[in-house]
Amino acid sequence: MGSLTVRQLDDKLKTLLRLRAARHGRSMEDEVRVILKGAAHEAGRDVLEHFEPAMQPAPQGARQADSKGILLIIGGGIAAYKSLDLIRRLQDRGARVRCILTPAAQHFITPLAAGALAGERAYTDLFDAQSEFDVGHIRLAREADLIVVAPATADLMAKMAGGHADDLAAAVLLATDRPILVAPAMNPRMWAAKSTQRNLAQLVADGVRVVGPNRGEMAERGESGVGRMAEPNEIVAAVEVILRKEGPLTGKRILVTSGPTHEPIDPVRFIANRSSGKQGQAIAAAAAAAGADVLLVSGPVDRPDPPGVTVVKVETARQMLEAVEKALPADVAIFAAAVADWRVDQPSGHKIKKQEGRPQQLGLVENPDILATVAHRKSGRPPLVIGFAAETDRVIVNAKAKLAKKGCDWILANDVSPETGIMGGDTNTIHLVTASGVESWPPQSKDDVARSLIGRIAAALAKAKR
Ligand code: C5P
Repeated sequence: MGSLTVRQLDDKLKTLLRLRAARHGRSMEDEVRVILKGAAHEAGRDVLEHFEPAMQPAPQGARQADSKGILLIIGGGIAAYKSLDLIRRLQDRGARVRCILTPAAQHFITPLAAGALAGERAYTDLFDAQSEFDVGHIRLAREADLIVVAPATADLMAKMAGGHADDLAAAVLLATDRPILVAPAMNPRMWAAKSTQRNLAQLVADGVRVVGPNRGEMAERGESGVGRMAEPNEIVAAVEVILRKEGPLTGKRILVTSGPTHEPIDPVRFIANRSSGKQGQAIAAAAAAAGADVLLVSGPVDRPDPPGVTVVKVETARQMLEAVEKALPADVAIFAAAVADWRVDQPSGHKIKKQEGRPQQLGLVENPDILATVAHRKSGRPPLVIGFAAETDRVIVNAKAKLAKKGCDWILANDVSPETGIMGGDTNTIHLVTASGVESWPPQSKDDVARSLIGRIAAALAKAKR
């Protein structure tokens, strides 16, 4: 109705309306709504609901994305075909989906296909008079509850990081005050390029959430590496985490470390350990599912990032400490990483050659203890600092000593003797050691350990508030 109203105005009125809308930072149709609402109030009649946008009823059983508006910006990459599936999956969760296709995206899929699936025309052009009258880029930017960019190409990420507004997608991304989730997809070399990583870091610092990319085969024959767009179900999971309104940890910022560290010996060799990162990732995912804003600092692991979590990837203990300190303040810090205790004093710049009969000597120096450093901070110490103790004997005695030595509040101690299969395995047996005693949990999956821990944390924070 709004678009008809606007289109039927004479040119002078249209110009006046455009100026008034621009002054208020609204689309023309929104300006018409405001004027009509005002008029309705003055007339003393409560007709406001007539001017609210029509909502499609959510299907039975719809979950987190229930009747939320999602603006899906489809960038130009071969992964665009997966975004058609994504539209359906988001709708299955009860979301209303609107699409914008960049000019490059239209080489891979058509606006007709995206529009037909979304049940509303797909938007393509910043200077399209009809869409400006219909909706307008400002309204596109503001009406959504969440903007998802999938696939997010290197170019689109660069535009976002640089604040460009030279096409509809970029202008909407610049004009929005809504949360943004990007699902990058590109060739592994483009992903690894310094400029892309710089843009990624900028986007993360700007509060943009990221899902993927995953490791795998590329569209180009014979190419593989990190750069495949996250699968639609992973993107939906990340959307649900962001849209989840209330959880026991909503409004809390949680920092988690996980995985091993790699300490270089020379350009091809390093000191490492068998940590898979599973437990830390499960904790990060459970915290995100409980509504927390989660930052995971991860050492090198061969697993996709958990959904709905911001991940900072590091190699060495010193890089991990730097990333952790940069991520503070936090309400809770959980140190699940298996940090190498030692690093090579002076890693060689070239591959060390084998010398017959003369084994190589390596000088080692101690790495910083990240948990102890954070737990002993005079200012900016998270109110709840939690460590792990992987022990092979006298598990509880050693864990108690570690609690005191490291200065943390809780220690989750586990027996990692080879026969337990915990290191790299799927289950874990935990003894929770705190100042008030020891509590032994039954053997359970690492996901269940994560959920139990998050439940404990939520209860502790709620108690501290009372
Ligand atoms: O001293 P130990 O390695 O047994 O301590 C384990 C706990 O300390 C874990 O929570 C681990 O993440 C953390 N840690 C750390 N930095 C180190 C060594 C351990 O944060 N350099």
